[in-house]
Amino acid sequence: MNVTFCQNFSFRAADRNNINNIALTKYNKVLYSDTLSFSGNSMKLGQFETFVQKFQNIYGPDITKGLHNIVSDIGNKIGEGAEKVVYAIPGVDDFVAGILKKQSFSDAPMAKVQDKFPNHNFSQTLGSNGSDLIIMKKVNGESHSLPDWAKNYRAAIYDGVNVPIDKAILFVNQAVTISDFPLDSYVDFAQQVKYLTSVKEKVDIFNPNNVLIDYGEKKFNLIDLMPNSSKFYQIKPEINCTRDMVNVLSDALMHKRYMDALNKDGASKLFEGTKKIISKTQQAGDIAGLSDDSSITFQTYDTLQKLLIAKGRNPKYAESYKGFLDLYRDFLK
Ligand SMILES: Nc1ncnc2c1ncn2[C@@H]1O[C@H](COP(=O)(O)OP(=O)(O)OP(=O)(O)O)[C@@H](O)[C@H]1O
Ligand SMILES: [Mg+2]
Repeated sequence: MNVTFCQNFSFRAADRNNINNIALTKYNKVLYSDTLSFSGNSMKLGQFETFVQKFQNIYGPDITKGLHNIVSDIGNKIGEGAEKVVYAIPGVDDFVAGILKKQSFSDAPMAKVQDKFPNHNFSQTLGSNGSDLIIMKKVNGESHSLPDWAKNYRAAIYDGVNVPIDKAILFVNQAVTISDFPLDSYVDFAQQVKYLTSVKEKVDIFNPNNVLIDYGEKKFNLIDLMPNSSKFYQIKPEINCTRDMVNVLSDALMHKRYMDALNKDGASKLFEGTKKIISKTQQAGDIAGLSDDSSITFQTYDTLQKLLIAKGRNPKYAESYKGFLDLYRDFLK
């Protein structure tokens, strides 16, 4: 199968809402004021020293040993990606522990790592034992889309995975719920992405689990930024774009698989919800001044994630992603 559909993007600009001028003025003020007020700032900005103090009060002086005990209890597991498994630390609320799956066990002491964003919380690393263990700032919310997406679906998409209907319904419920979040929630999200672009950080839009949804606060919180942003930065001056947000919130790579699993009613709910998500995200991207060059997203898939969709090397991925684009082509910018 030779898939070349994505090499030239051109979508009609149908269903694009005009941006409300009052909203624009309001958000521009927020965007260009000295302190950004997006959700990264409303969460705890814990420091390594605070973690050490809190942890040692409860678990004693040997932090590495204490953390290895904590991660050996599966009940503490919060989530898992391709690179790490993340655990809650009972009694130490503002921090989480990560086990890097590709690194070997080490009992070396935990040492401070420079905080990349002292004034924000994108789940950055605060401490490490130099090998398998890291400490991160805790981010509020639940991983978007299906649990352990990377583990359960990343590889499976290559084989044309079929999703069980109960899992697809889970995604429909998430999509419908977030589609009703106010435009403000989407603007806050777009501002996080814009801020990260300004500091040359690339958002990892491949895995929807990298957006944590705080359903109570109606916030989208980003975690797990790309490690090799500099490589991508050489390719594109703007390294994040509005389509990144659309795709991560719609789970664009798996979306068609969910559709295929659903009955007519479920499929219609997902379609209507996703149209709202697309519309609000595109308005928010415009308000925050994000790039609307969707080839950035495509290059992320092909260059950074090595999906090689354009070259047709991964036909199942191409088919799944094309299914999403076909469904929503009238609504995507
Ligand atoms: N700082 C955090 N606060 C709360 N939960 C977190 C945090 N970091 C990670 N998690 C949970 O753990 C899961 C895996 O973490 P993360 O995305 O960092 O792993 P990864 O292996 O790097 O992922 P990927 O497969 O996207 O590369 C997340 O999807 C989320 O559920
Ligand atoms: Mg992740």
